[in-house]
Amino acid sequence: MGNCCRKPAKCAHASSTNFSSGSKKSHNNELKQDSTSSCQQASLGSFNKSLITSTVDASVPSNLKSFSFIDLKNATKNFRSETLLGEGGFGCVFKGWLDENTLAPTKPGSGIVVAVKRLKAESSQGHKEWLAEVNYLGQLRHENLVKLIGYCAESENRLLVYEFMPKGSLENHLFRKGDQPIAWAMRMRIAIDVARGLSFLHGLNANVIYRDLKASNILLDSDYNAKLSDFGLARDGPTGDNTHVSTKVVGTRGYAAPEYVATGHLTPKSDVYSFGVVLLELLSGRRAMDDERANFVEETLVDWAKPFLSDPRRVLRIMDTRLGGQYSKKGAQAVAALALLCLHTDSKNRPQMIEVLTTLEKNISKDMPTSPFPAKLDSHRIKHINSPHRRVIEQLRI
Ligand SMILES: Nc1ncnc2c1ncn2[C@@H]1O[C@H](COP(=O)(O)OP(=O)(O)OP(=O)(O)O)[C@@H](O)[C@H]1O
Ligand SMILES: [Mg+2]
Repeated sequence: MGNCCRKPAKCAHASSTNFSSGSKKSHNNELKQDSTSSCQQASLGSFNKSLITSTVDASVPSNLKSFSFIDLKNATKNFRSETLLGEGGFGCVFKGWLDENTLAPTKPGSGIVVAVKRLKAESSQGHKEWLAEVNYLGQLRHENLVKLIGYCAESENRLLVYEFMPKGSLENHLFRKGDQPIAWAMRMRIAIDVARGLSFLHGLNANVIYRDLKASNILLDSDYNAKLSDFGLARDGPTGDNTHVSTKVVGTRGYAAPEYVATGHLTPKSDVYSFGVVLLELLSGRRAMDDERANFVEETLVDWAKPFLSDPRRVLRIMDTRLGGQYSKKGAQAVAALALLCLHTDSKNRPQMIEVLTTLEKNISKDMPTSPFPAKLDSHRIKHINSPHRRVIEQLRI
């Protein structure tokens, strides 16, 4: 278990009592510092070849482009470190350029920009997750899901090609030191986008459960529209008379629902719990798991925040001080109350995602332009909006 428990980390276990570090990376510093070198690995030496033959060509959705490895190598300037966008447990993500008509590799700066995710050699679960991602994202299209353009399954190489999300992840915007904090209205807009994406998945016949909701999997386009990425852990939910599906426990510490961690019983309400955690992150600007807050004692954001959430007089104490008080108090109280419902210990008492979405939408008006960042007040207390915006929220009316 060790270090992986300090920060949000992928976890997998088959028993009901312990988290252990799973197939994906632990988000610890050593791994991050090593990212460039591990990203340069050329091939998947330890890859299980028996898995490669399974269904790649037979089952991948036909609307996806099948890329050759050499094309993606050329599109990303040979996976050079200057095109590196980030690294997750699956592998490294690189910026690439393709011709918009033929999808052939082009020179940097021309054609369309894409994000190319390359499975790393050590990823034992990698092929399974790669296939899940291809199957789900290849078939599902929604404005709040990242678009998968294609894939590469050549020899031992496994890659995925997505639309490029210029503003990166919500994690970076909320927690990266030095970044300008995002404004309250923008946070609520992101919450609505995520709720829309999840409601779409839960509303499908297959009752798809996303299972990996967290700030790093929420990506932002150039207009700060939020989209869900990473469908490697997604799976079909219970249908008919079944109340849950039984699975090995995988997910991320601090975000995974307690009953799922304890029993492996997965329901759409597991996503609702994780959504509650993301709401808390948006309200407080604090990570789901954080060394600094816990003073090296394991404490989740939920553990820390719950006593405040259930006390109307103290609830605003959880608010992100970087917002500088620029938020609607009533609105924040209402969102905190919603988060508390999503985080209910008994999953049956959590609302459905569609109810969460309706509550957020009902209470938020979307017509007035705003900035992604808090407005600055000058000495005359006149608000200056940093940049114009297309689709936005005025204020919470609650
Ligand atoms: N489509 C994309 N457009 C732009 N940047 C992206 C895209 N997909 C991923 N990234 C960047 O790459 C980083 C790594 O993404 P990845 O999904 O591999 O890992 P993660 O979400 O940080 O961790 P985990 O493996 O636990 O999910 C993201 O944080 C993001 O900054
Ligand atoms: Mg991710």
